[in-house]
Amino acid sequence: MSSVTGRTSFEGMYHAIAKSECITQFSTLFCQPIKKDYKAMRDINTDREHDDIREKVRDGYARIADSKTSCCGPSSCCGGPAAGDIARAVGYVSEELAEIPDGANMGLSCGNPTALASLQPGDTVLDLGAGGGFDVFIAARKVGESGHAIGVDMTPEMVSRARQNNRSFRQSSGLDNVEFRLGEIEHLPVADASIDVVISNCVINLSPEKAQVWREIARVLKPGGRACISDLALLRPLPESVRQSIEALVGCIAGAVLIDETRALIQSAGLTIVKIETKSDYMKSMSDWSDPLYQEIARKLPSGYRPDDYVTSLSIIAENSRKKTRHATVKRAIR
Ligand SMILES: C[S@@+](CC[C@H](N)C(=O)[O-])C[C@H]1O[C@@H](n2cnc3c(N)ncnc32)[C@H](O)[C@@H]1O
Repeated sequence: MSSVTGRTSFEGMYHAIAKSECITQFSTLFCQPIKKDYKAMRDINTDREHDDIREKVRDGYARIADSKTSCCGPSSCCGGPAAGDIARAVGYVSEELAEIPDGANMGLSCGNPTALASLQPGDTVLDLGAGGGFDVFIAARKVGESGHAIGVDMTPEMVSRARQNNRSFRQSSGLDNVEFRLGEIEHLPVADASIDVVISNCVINLSPEKAQVWREIARVLKPGGRACISDLALLRPLPESVRQSIEALVGCIAGAVLIDETRALIQSAGLTIVKIETKSDYMKSMSDWSDPLYQEIARKLPSGYRPDDYVTSLSIIAENSRKKTRHATVKRAIR
């Protein structure tokens, strides 16, 4: 839909109509409703494009959830490394992997947000794009029975799988502090100022509305709460051929943005960046693996370049440094 001017063809058409009407009518009164209609229709159009992207991502992850493998992403199937190897490559330790339900780790992570989070007993943790519940179960052990670990995911098949995993987690751990909610990270099904720590692992890059995701994080965090996020980010803009690939989108690469852009999104949402650090090991280790997506992306790059020249894993800690207000205290008292 985009043209050389950077406008969608729809936007261009509407500008042309608005301009000609303004010239012939010489009436600002007449132009106002047109401008308003244009904005309303442009918003509808953008919403539709965002929903289309979410639909493609949802389809990709529904297939992954149903197939119990992750062929569409950096994967544990098709000759790629096992999910446990991916997890160990990004710093998970064997003991914590042994304590989560079978199948909760689907090899879809690109970092280790619970290691950044310094979780305390009693904390309420929210995992954005929880998948099979991998980090939710690790967090649940750390926050203990006085804490609460909530996973949100927009793919119903993933949520079903996570809830199944939770049944075996309850039995093996004796903990009943985990919950999975169906929802979009752009519109979190979570109350204002109710979360101590937001975590997320390789998900925000998939969102077509990253600014809205960061605003939602700021909304749900308690004053003094923090976001500990692992994600993929770009070191330089991707070639168009990779950006257009649905496989690369579902595989967390085509939707990634530059590190400076991520920084700006966090700050615009009103959060304070405590730490933002690139972790090149994840992509570097991928280059030794025969993952089909990795091979496909490598083929589309200019000669002499590898995916890790473009993409890096990023660890982010950001804080809600707003002070407790009377308003926030009253809201908590009501809940
Ligand atoms: C790469 S997987 C990561 C899963 C999990 N965090 C892990 O490390 O195993 C991405 C997950 O995010 C979910 N997801 C993607 N975009 C989302 C959105 N806009 N809102 C909610 N969930 C989303 C997908 O359904 C999928 O389960």
